[in-house]
Amino acid sequence: MTRSPDTTRATKAGRSPAPDGVRTPTTNVWHGADLLGTRGVPAERLRELLTLARARRESPAKSLAGRTVATVFFEDSTRTRSSFTIAAQRCGADVVDLSSKASSANKGESLADTARVIEAMGVAAIVVRTSRAGGAKMAADAVACPVINAGDGAHEHPTQALADALALDDAWNLAGSFDFGGKRIVIVGDLSHSRVARSNAASLTTLGAEVVFVGPPAMAPRSLGGALGVRVSHDLDAELAEADAVMALRIQLERGAGAMLASSRDYRSAYGVTQARADAMKPGALVMHPGPMNRGVEMDPAVADGPRSIVIRQVAAGVAVRVAALEAVIGSTAGNA
Ligand code: NCD
Repeated sequence: MTRSPDTTRATKAGRSPAPDGVRTPTTNVWHGADLLGTRGVPAERLRELLTLARARRESPAKSLAGRTVATVFFEDSTRTRSSFTIAAQRCGADVVDLSSKASSANKGESLADTARVIEAMGVAAIVVRTSRAGGAKMAADAVACPVINAGDGAHEHPTQALADALALDDAWNLAGSFDFGGKRIVIVGDLSHSRVARSNAASLTTLGAEVVFVGPPAMAPRSLGGALGVRVSHDLDAELAEADAVMALRIQLERGAGAMLASSRDYRSAYGVTQARADAMKPGALVMHPGPMNRGVEMDPAVADGPRSIVIRQVAAGVAVRVAALEAVIGSTAGNA
């Protein structure tokens, strides 16, 4: 058995402090470490971060006043980048967005070099998105300041998974226990390309839920379920009655999913979260989607906007967990004046 790597580190041992200096933190959650993934992260650490997200949602604090956060997105994104920007501003931090398809990383400068250059400008943390699995770790290994992974290829997207956990805790009225024991969550769609599915499989099972991957064999191969320790099914209808939540995923055409698809209509009829399928779910069961959504293919518009949907709550939870993630990795400066 191979041990799954711990995708966060408590310290960046042997490295010099970030150029803007390390001040005494008033929160110790995750201070000084990178947030690269959820796989291998113990439940206590996930719950600490989620608890901080709830606390700051109730009582916002300008905990990162005077610090600068860099967002560096080498891959398209609107909502995740905006969500990090809003979260950083909510903490009082300044944000510099260095996202660009025309950045030097595309001109041959490596991710590590780019991260070093940005760090040298004096930022407190770097938020990075890249199409390369493992890209966030490459950046993190190159710098002393903390790095948050905002999605690296089909590998991990930890803040989306944490947002989903917060939205579920809210919707299930768990009041911040983040104990998903006895809950079954079906994740349906293009699992093979999905970093959201990988990060969620890890965090949701760590928090006690049972996770089932559902999709056509090409998008939900049994080997993927085996690698992540989750059950795989190719029959959505057979899974609906026992699901406490169904999370639909986007078909990632930009990663080659088109070749796996007969037609959008066939996909919808086998794996779309249609109104008829929503009606077959148990009372109170939820539907989710991390977005962006192909409405009418992955989910019917009436379901996405209907009473089971927590799609909008997921977006709001995304800002709350990013506030917590930034504060946790950087360390709060509140009260240090
Ligand atoms: C996801 C992503 O970028 O991985 N979206 C998101 O973070 N809101 C999922 C996707 O792109 O389909």
